[in-house]
Amino acid sequence: METNIFDKFVSQKTLFKNKEHLRHNFRPQRLPHREEEIEKISYNLWEALKGHIPSNMTLYGVTGAGKTAVTDYVCHHLRAKGETMGRQVESIMVNCRQIDTQYRVLSHIGNSLLEDFEQDEIPFTGWPTDRVFNELIRRMDRRGGVFVIVLDEIDHLVRKAGDDLLYNLTNMNSSLKTARACVIGISNDLKFTDFLDPRVRSRLGQLDVLFRPYDAEQLQDILRQRAQEGLDAEAIGPGVIELCAALAAQEHGDARCALDLLRISAEKAEQAGDDAVNQNHVRIAQSQIESDQMTPVIATLPSQQKLVLASILLNEQNGLRNVQTGQVYDIYRQACQHIRQNPLTQRRISGLISNLDMLGLVTARTVSKGRYGRSKEINSCIPANVDVRTIMSTAEEEMHVVFNANYHHQTSL
Ligand SMILES: Nc1ncnc2c1ncn2[C@@H]1O[C@H](COP(=O)(O)OP(=O)(O)OP(=O)(O)O)[C@@H](O)[C@H]1O
Ligand SMILES: [Mg+2]
Repeated sequence: METNIFDKFVSQKTLFKNKEHLRHNFRPQRLPHREEEIEKISYNLWEALKGHIPSNMTLYGVTGAGKTAVTDYVCHHLRAKGETMGRQVESIMVNCRQIDTQYRVLSHIGNSLLEDFEQDEIPFTGWPTDRVFNELIRRMDRRGGVFVIVLDEIDHLVRKAGDDLLYNLTNMNSSLKTARACVIGISNDLKFTDFLDPRVRSRLGQLDVLFRPYDAEQLQDILRQRAQEGLDAEAIGPGVIELCAALAAQEHGDARCALDLLRISAEKAEQAGDDAVNQNHVRIAQSQIESDQMTPVIATLPSQQKLVLASILLNEQNGLRNVQTGQVYDIYRQACQHIRQNPLTQRRISGLISNLDMLGLVTARTVSKGRYGRSKEINSCIPANVDVRTIMSTAEEEMHVVFNANYHHQTSL
């Protein structure tokens, strides 16, 4: 009988009780360490259940601090309470990274209010924005009640398309006849309101809620609670939750990162046929995550940045660490010759090295050389499991030539 490549998985023991519980978009029963934020937001939205207009809100905090999860959780409870109390309350969440123009946000909200018997969707493009807005108002009034409009990752839209949308949405109650609306903006950029017209800023910022980053202990509680549902109790070895939490806390207290680490560690353990996740699996998962994050950054570097990074790596391959800008420039110039390109000036290259430093691909430390002035000490900081040569050569064929050419190396001064 023909064997099937999936057979081995069928008989494999799984460590997961329910993997969905460890995914980002799963809504957990409880959100530990966000009680205060939940209290503040729900106290404000309670107004909606009384038929009044809640204050507009802005929620801030670093990535992975639970802003989206908390808002989704509170809105879920709000809708459920609305149903049991017989109150018309709706919440509509829009991700402004995906839906990133005023037209699309308005039409998306409008189309989510389409009744079953209706077919006239607001088209993807083509109507004047006024018409979309008026249609939205009409549909909201027809349904009545209080609408909570959540604009997640709002800073993206404001940066791209300005604040017209926020102006219109925060001014909606003057156009609505029977319905009422409030707006919740969510951002991980604390300064995004600097881009707003002062009127919009004051209307949107009636109530601010700041989400602080989680510390390692809080992340442990979050992971334990999610792991209880997601993994078999015996599948978690000693110190695993603590290590995942500590690594994520080092980043900036990102719960998403902690969850990913735990889920991928369990996958690694499962693939290896082990009975439980141990700290070694966590380290393997961590380096895979690092490599997955770094690969697209390296692949999409502009050509000149790639050449500079390659020049630093070529120096290192030759045994040189703590290289100076001049040494990088020397190899860079030779690389340009190999691929018949005009080199940029050393000054420009110095700027490109600083960019690579900002991206976390190299470290460029300025050191004082006494009366010889100051110079940079440059080292790459890409983990060993990331194959930079292949990534760059796959993204740009010329890089293959750069890596395989011969170079004349200066010695360190
Ligand atoms: N207190 C918590 N308890 C359980 N899970 C949490 C908690 N906080 C965050 N999470 C989980 O961590 C992940 C990231 O959280 P969330 O998406 O809410 O972050 P965010 O603040 O919206 O980040 P970003 O600014 O990147 O959008 C989600 O999967 C969420 O379910
Ligand atoms: Mg979010």
